[in-house]
Amino acid sequence: MLAFLSWMESSALGHFMRESGPWTYAFINLGHILGVAALFGSVLVLDLRLLGVGRRIPLAAVSAATVPVSAGGLALALITGSALLATKATAYADNPLLLIKFPAIALGLLNALVLNLLPAWKVRATRELSSAEHRQLAVVGAISLVCWLTAVGAGRMIGYW
Ligand code: HEM
Repeated sequence: MLAFLSWMESSALGHFMRESGPWTYAFINLGHILGVAALFGSVLVLDLRLLGVGRRIPLAAVSAATVPVSAGGLALALITGSALLATKATAYADNPLLLIKFPAIALGLLNALVLNLLPAWKVRATRELSSAEHRQLAVVGAISLVCWLTAVGAGRMIGYW
């Protein structure tokens, strides 16, 4: 872990973040927050729908609106997050909140992959789902909410450790 953090800090990205003026970190941090907001906001709407909130709106319509926003937010959060980390990566070596945040992100992504593989998700636009399928989607939605809430919470706390 420390070897990876040292490598990040001494990378070209780390040098750029430290040596290009005080506003670089501020703007990249703003980008990170916007990415996180887009990701979490859209995931929250989709997860609540998977849990059964707003049933009268078809799942296919909710997913068509939220999935592209969450993918864009995730990409922005990953890119800007890497830059924030590279700025002073070794300073986070003993920060336990990173060890909560990164596994939560990994689990959230794994859970999204599982959702995409579920037959109930694949046929959401073409037929009514059975109650067993609704329950399956609700479990995935609940796991997703826990993962992303944990990632946002731990991310916000990192700086206070
Ligand atoms: C490769 C992925 C990511 C990396 C390397 C990363 C890294 C970082 C770093 C280094 C910080 C600054 C911590 C500090 O205050 O010193 C941060 C802040 C934060 N991150 Fe991430 N992050 C990533 C993805 C995410 C994702 C996916 C989320 C949410 C789902 C997230 C949520 C947050 C939040 C809420 C903050 C606090 C921002 C603030 O209050 O200024 N991060 N992240």
